[in-house]
Amino acid sequence: MSMNTFTERRARLAQSLREAGGGLAVIRTAPERPRNSDSDHPYRHDSSFHYLTGFDEPGAWLLLEAQGRSTLLCRERNPEREIWDGRRLGPEAAPIALGVQEAFDVAVLDTLLPERLANQNAVWFPFGAEANLQPQIEGWLGSVRARERMGVRSPAAMRDLNPLLAEMRLLKDAGEQATMRRAASISAGAHARAMRFCAQRFATEPNGSVREYEIEAELLHEFRRHGAQAPAYTSIVAAGANACVLHYAAADAELKAGELCLIDAGCELDGYASDITRTFPATGRFTPAQRELYDIVQAAQEAAIAATRPGARQRDAHHAAVRVLSQGMLDTGLLDAKLVGTVDDVIATAAYRSFYMHGTGHWLGRDVHDVGDYLSRGEAPVDQPDGQGGRRVFEPSRVLAPGMAVTIEPGIYVRPAPGVPERYWNIGIRIEDDALVTPQGCELMSRGVPVSASEIEALMAEAQRPAVR
Ligand code: GLY
Ligand code: MN
Ligand code: MN
Repeated sequence: MSMNTFTERRARLAQSLREAGGGLAVIRTAPERPRNSDSDHPYRHDSSFHYLTGFDEPGAWLLLEAQGRSTLLCRERNPEREIWDGRRLGPEAAPIALGVQEAFDVAVLDTLLPERLANQNAVWFPFGAEANLQPQIEGWLGSVRARERMGVRSPAAMRDLNPLLAEMRLLKDAGEQATMRRAASISAGAHARAMRFCAQRFATEPNGSVREYEIEAELLHEFRRHGAQAPAYTSIVAAGANACVLHYAAADAELKAGELCLIDAGCELDGYASDITRTFPATGRFTPAQRELYDIVQAAQEAAIAATRPGARQRDAHHAAVRVLSQGMLDTGLLDAKLVGTVDDVIATAAYRSFYMHGTGHWLGRDVHDVGDYLSRGEAPVDQPDGQGGRRVFEPSRVLAPGMAVTIEPGIYVRPAPGVPERYWNIGIRIEDDALVTPQGCELMSRGVPVSASEIEALMAEAQRPAVR
């Protein structure tokens, strides 16, 4: 992304500050996190800081005045430290490199901030950020107040910057969309690779098994070999019954013939996440029971995709998926109509939650669960289902617009329980794709890996065919 992109974003944020009454915004990047001794966890910048600067070094701050002046604080050049940790940009080069008006050594933070806060009417910062700024801000405000006798005015309000940043980040520009497409495409390739890997293992060792960590290694290999920096979140590789544990992480369980493998994994590329789930049979062939449930989840996803378009509400996709899943639960006997009633009853009482207990999607962007309000704040509250079997009065769900990105991820998870048909026990299925809302509907960015049961079987059968020479 060009420097202009970041300059333009800062200008738009300054404009929002002006419209909201003015003040100074203070945004710091993420801190480094020690792991132990002198080893740190891999460094990851703060998403909003990077969105506004494109700068990925630790130890940096951005000050943005409503009138438009932008100031960067960053680490000084240091030949000794740069031998160990790598090159630093340094404040001398920052204005040209990043388009900020001025830059200083971060060591002056505690003297510069009280100066910059003097005579501002508000200080804006992201409330509740993991690096809690409030104590530091209060300290600086104390220094400003100490100068009030000299005629200096101190800001009368602390204001949350999160909603302004979230509104900007919710709509992805063309550059962001291009990066997200590439991230999703790399991740789709990784899922296809994992399917092929399992198919080939069981072709050569029909009674063998594959460890979850071996599959995870295939994913990581594919992410990195295409330039993705890291997984966007902890990869889920769940063999058999582990798929019914929603936040299961790849561990060392064996995936055996006859079982399904659920993979929920996506790479982060240049600061943008992808988030894909596929569920496939270890050997490449679904059993009849697995296939029945798989087809229901896929139909639910199709319904949710059709509901993901401009003008629809973000929650419509969930309602569409829930209706298909609920009907499927009745058709298969997962839910007993004599006990739970019609599909409308299943939805009204949320009886489907025994087998589908999460939402159907979330905003996707720099963070896998990206920022953005899920409710339409300007609209009058209405009486609507609360998703738990009751009703509540609250604002309607957000209306979708081109440039928003969401996941679409229905599933069914069947734990052994009395009254639940045994043929479905321990089957966990989720299908998740990344959708960009377009003027016409939505673009599925992650369809570089098959999704229908027959396409998955075909891909895995192809991987098992001996190479023709
Ligand atoms: N991988 C996290 C999620 O699907 O929401
Ligand atoms: Mn997701
Ligand atoms: Mn996911």
